[in-house]
Amino acid sequence: MNLKKITLTALAGLTATFSFSQTVNITAKAGDPNRIIDRNIYGHFSEHLGRCIYDGFWVSPDLNVPKKDRIRLDIVDALKKIKVPNLRWPGGCFADEYHWRDGIGPRDQRPKMVNTNWGGVTEDNSFGTHEFLELCELIGCEPYIAGNVGSGTVEEMAKWVEYLNSSAESPMTNLRKQNGHPEAYKVKFWGVGNESWGCGGDMTAEFYTDQYKRYAVYARNYKDAPLKKIASGANSDDYHWTETAMKNIGRRMWGLSLHYYTIPTGDWGKKGSATSFTDAEYFKTMKNCLHMEELVTKHSAIMDKYDPEKKVALVVDEWGVWTDVEPGTNPGFLYQQNSMRDALIAGTTLNIFNNHSDRVKVASLAQSINVLQSLILTDREKMILTPTYHVFDLYKVHQDAEYIPLSFTSPDYSVDGKSIPALNVSASKDKSGAIHISLVNLDPAKPIKIQTALEGQSWKSVSGQILTSAKLTDINTFDKPNNIHIEKYAGAKKQGSQLVAEIPAKSVVVLELK
Ligand code: AHR
Repeated sequence: MNLKKITLTALAGLTATFSFSQTVNITAKAGDPNRIIDRNIYGHFSEHLGRCIYDGFWVSPDLNVPKKDRIRLDIVDALKKIKVPNLRWPGGCFADEYHWRDGIGPRDQRPKMVNTNWGGVTEDNSFGTHEFLELCELIGCEPYIAGNVGSGTVEEMAKWVEYLNSSAESPMTNLRKQNGHPEAYKVKFWGVGNESWGCGGDMTAEFYTDQYKRYAVYARNYKDAPLKKIASGANSDDYHWTETAMKNIGRRMWGLSLHYYTIPTGDWGKKGSATSFTDAEYFKTMKNCLHMEELVTKHSAIMDKYDPEKKVALVVDEWGVWTDVEPGTNPGFLYQQNSMRDALIAGTTLNIFNNHSDRVKVASLAQSINVLQSLILTDREKMILTPTYHVFDLYKVHQDAEYIPLSFTSPDYSVDGKSIPALNVSASKDKSGAIHISLVNLDPAKPIKIQTALEGQSWKSVSGQILTSAKLTDINTFDKPNNIHIEKYAGAKKQGSQLVAEIPAKSVVVLELK
């Protein structure tokens, strides 16, 4: 790009480079009808952690909200609206301490336990397997269950699968029937442990991959219920883990997981605030967020060596921004607010996943309610939809749509002599033939003009929606729940055969071409 740059020294001593750029030319090639953006990329994660399950999905019988049993239905409705395709449960670190038989049967007889990972609180096991599957049914999503490898046994996991998926007569299926569910649930997505390199057992890649094989052999495929077994995968850039899993497990797994969190400061000891950050910290956060591109590219390249046909899925089943907790809240509950910055993180990360949808087939944002980068925050009866929720609402059009490859050179967004690409984009064509282009402008000050040639696509009109706000630190609050909301966007038009648009600073825009 031919950029004219002016460097200014801001009052805070920060050196920011502002560029007056030309229009960005985006070329959209004709898509491959077999390359679909799997809807499961738009999945979510709900752990027994803080107020995600208890006081999130599963509320006190006295709470004055619409409920089925103790499942909060206003939350269910909100999740239905964004077409949540799957929900991962019960953890996270909690999964490797969870013994599923404690969470079935009459609730008043279920044993209690201490949630040692998250705040040391007492877990009463009132939300267990049946309650989770009922929640998934209400949302209309696939359950994704993470089994216990760290402190469990092969038998315990095998029996859980049998309890859920077998239709034959057996002590396990009789127990399920006794607990009110004659039909097999046929749960497909099955995690074999979680973070087995850390809270899931502190194992080496070599030891875990051998364990995986033991657990996986006895996690049986029952009639009409073939499992999609997902191996516990790498912690961010642990490429040795991926190499070992591909070598030792290979096609015996359906998917291999990857976990990566965006830490604003890059320092786990002092991660940074969710609502109060400088421009320099915003820049660092987005740079850390964009690191997902490198991770997915490099892990995929290793997988390609062993699996060139791309049969094994990369499953990014924990991602999102992880900040310091809100002041005054339990540090073990990971409750954080959600700003316009979070929306830009969500839009950028989902664009990365769409653009790698040949390998990334499932992903789970951490976590749905009241924990980390939430979709929804609650305060007793009140609930707010976060800016992140709105991005999932905007992007739901990509689910199961045909991927359209794009090429362009992004202008830079530069701070203190360092640069990141200001623009990220992905595109797809849905079953009706409508084309959707999601564009994220990370530059907090400058709009970006785009001009797009869409090879081989015919379209007559363009409409759009936008999520933006005056400040990156803006949030939705219980008093002002609609502070940040989706609006109609009128900044795009058809000019000859080209799509021309101006993407405002710090915004997420989704265009529809018909
Ligand atoms: O999402 C919070 C925690 O982060 C999960 O329990 C764990 O898997 C990860 O370290």
